[in-house]
Amino acid sequence: MDNHIAIQVKNLVKNFGKGENSVKVIEGASFEINKGEVVALIAPSGAGKTTLLMMIGCVLEPTSGEIWLGEERVYHDKWLIQDTRKIRREKIGFIFQAHYLIPFLNIMENVTLVSLAKGASEKEAKKKAMELLEYLEIADKANNMTSQLSGGQNQRVAIARALANNPQIILADEPTAALDGERSISVIKMLKKVAREQNVAIITVTHDERILPYCDKIMKIENRTVVFHELDEKIV
Ligand SMILES: Nc1ncnc2c1ncn2[C@@H]1O[C@H](COP(=O)(O)OP(=O)(O)OP(=O)(O)O)[C@@H](O)[C@H]1O
Ligand SMILES: [Mg+2]
Repeated sequence: MDNHIAIQVKNLVKNFGKGENSVKVIEGASFEINKGEVVALIAPSGAGKTTLLMMIGCVLEPTSGEIWLGEERVYHDKWLIQDTRKIRREKIGFIFQAHYLIPFLNIMENVTLVSLAKGASEKEAKKKAMELLEYLEIADKANNMTSQLSGGQNQRVAIARALANNPQIILADEPTAALDGERSISVIKMLKKVAREQNVAIITVTHDERILPYCDKIMKIENRTVVFHELDEKIV
């Protein structure tokens, strides 16, 4: 397999339920996403955006098809890996609409948690967290609590946390939905910087037209399959 590819999906199918009550969400999606690419995922509510992200993220089991993450085939009509948690911890960073930072830990502690869970020493975890907070221009808040930060600042911390395990892939489900225009742009710019500098593939669900020009491609779910659209306007 070409080593520029971060995510490859072949003939992916997802139904919820069985028999008469079965809901068909994805009926045969095939696509590739390259390393270093920022892809916007757009589709109406209920079309299957979160479902698709969660399958790629090894959280939700597909019905059939294939999923490759880099050189590793993780799903082929069944999970090919013993431990989906391990693959998530090693390869994937998640960012959600709400930042889901832990309110009783400070910013630094929220970010170190990931490295500590992966077995790093406290010293290593702190060093890594500080680097990430500096990278996301939020290091001055390291000792603050999440309640003392704005929505956009917390979302930058959530990006730092998503980067703490050096993921190859970041899956973001409406990361800017709770933010105003200016803060949304700052978050998407940060994501783009991460994609370019760290060669991470990013899929971000969005309903926000303003952030589209910062993405490389638009992916849509249409007629229960995945199609790509060119951007009208692009900011490189
Ligand atoms: N666990 C489940 N059991 C049954 N049906 C489900 C389940 N999860 C999702 N669905 C159905 O699958 C479809 C896709 O849901 P999904 O959450 O992926 O949509 P979405 O595109 O993310 O929507 P939104 O923009 O509202 O977040 C919906 O029809 C939903 O009702
Ligand atoms: Mg959703």
